[in-house]
Amino acid sequence: MNASRGASRVVALVPAAGQGVRLGESRPKAFVPVGGIPMLRLAIDGLLASESVDEVVVIVPADLLDETRALLPVSPIPVRVVPGGAERTDSVRAGLDATPAATHVLVHDAARALTPPDLVSRVVEQLRSGSVAVVPALPVTDTIKSVDAAGAVTGTPDRSALRAIQTPQGFDAELLRAAHATGVQATDDAGLVELLGAVVHTVPGAAMAFKITTPLDLVLANTLVAQREPGPNESREAVPAP
Ligand code: CTP
Ligand code: MG
Repeated sequence: MNASRGASRVVALVPAAGQGVRLGESRPKAFVPVGGIPMLRLAIDGLLASESVDEVVVIVPADLLDETRALLPVSPIPVRVVPGGAERTDSVRAGLDATPAATHVLVHDAARALTPPDLVSRVVEQLRSGSVAVVPALPVTDTIKSVDAAGAVTGTPDRSALRAIQTPQGFDAELLRAAHATGVQATDDAGLVELLGAVVHTVPGAAMAFKITTPLDLVLANTLVAQREPGPNESREAVPAP
């Protein structure tokens, strides 16, 4: 069962148009394989496996539209591809512009390639129970400090009140459109929604939803995929190079 109940339409946007500078591979990050499969394909498969979305829109570099289409799964749920922009916020906005019929929008980084499907379901369920903005959150394990421009510590916020925020982040579609219409740039979509004064609800995040950002993260992701048993609908076959 997917999310098309009543007039609701849940559209998942997958920003995958970044360059992956910190990862330092020769390809844009979302196209770098994990366990032989491009990150963006893994992220899409996780969204589809949740059975909680009605449509997926992948946002990729403009010169990789055809390559992206070639690696999409065969699925009864439509998966579309649109070109992204210079900043992540621009890419999300491009995806939003391509989905006028959405009532709810998930924004999910391709770089969180190993996100468990049940985390996706948890976010959608929270939207269905009336929240207008939902983010997965985990307690932080490091002590976090603020510093000034010279690197001197200016404060130590109470760690028990801090959370690390993941994706998918879920929103009422009109709220997210209003947030993006402000033209502000932010590292996550909830940050824009907070500026409008909306309440952002947290649900428990998942360790496997970590963002693959650095070479160390890629080693971890490859190791985890090598260890896990394939699920019933999952193949270990690599997607052939285009
Ligand atoms: N993203 C995007 N469009 C951009 C920048 C980022 O769609 N202009 C996407 C990335 O592809 C990624 C997600 O946003 O899936 C999270 O961004 P990040 O982890 O920062 O990825 P990159 O920007 O690719 O990495 P880096 O910042 O190291 O260059
Ligand atoms: Mg980036």
